[in-house]
Amino acid sequence: MNMSVNASATQPKSSSVSFPSASTMDVLFTQAEIADRVKAIGDEISADYAGQSIVLIGVLKGAAIFLSDLARAIQVNNTFDFVSVSSYGRARVSSGAVKLIKDIDNPIEGKHVILVEDILDTGLTLSYLRGLMLQHKPASLKIATCLDKPERRLVPIEADYVAFKIPNRFVIGYGMDYAENYRNLPDIRLFPEELAGH
Ligand code: IMP
Repeated sequence: MNMSVNASATQPKSSSVSFPSASTMDVLFTQAEIADRVKAIGDEISADYAGQSIVLIGVLKGAAIFLSDLARAIQVNNTFDFVSVSSYGRARVSSGAVKLIKDIDNPIEGKHVILVEDILDTGLTLSYLRGLMLQHKPASLKIATCLDKPERRLVPIEADYVAFKIPNRFVIGYGMDYAENYRNLPDIRLFPEELAGH
């Protein structure tokens, strides 16, 4: 998610602050564990949509890496598109208002759509996007998320495909960031509690 209005909340306090090295952070899921779960979800989706085509819609930027792996793990024909949203303040602590900054490029009316997200946390982002996508009248709409933090839900929404359920901890890597850093890590790590402000 992009944090447009209250971006300072996720920025370092001053330019002299450096980000801790990922090597100091505990690994929650290794690259191999992630690959196994992505393959399992890919197989499940391929079975569920056998003989059909799917449109995967990724939520920028966090879901980009999960989507690119998932798209290749799905054996049925699939295309992909991306949306981008901003929240007013950090979704974790804000009133939860979400705004679309980039819409889908291609029509999805009558198509089988899967929204692909990095983390289902409070649920505010995906419930907003689900409502928006349903207005386009897809044939079906499901949700795939790499991580699910069920403890933090503020609105009732569940994903159809979940790679891992996790407790209420701030994580980085495999597309997920802290102030735009660490997205490129191949594994998923626990970000230090004292810095996360979580
Ligand atoms: P929510 O479900 O609307 O609360 O928002 C989910 C979004 O919050 C995710 O797509 C991430 O951008 C962000 N987010 C929530 N928890 C974490 C985390 O532990 N690490 C990185 N980003 C997170």
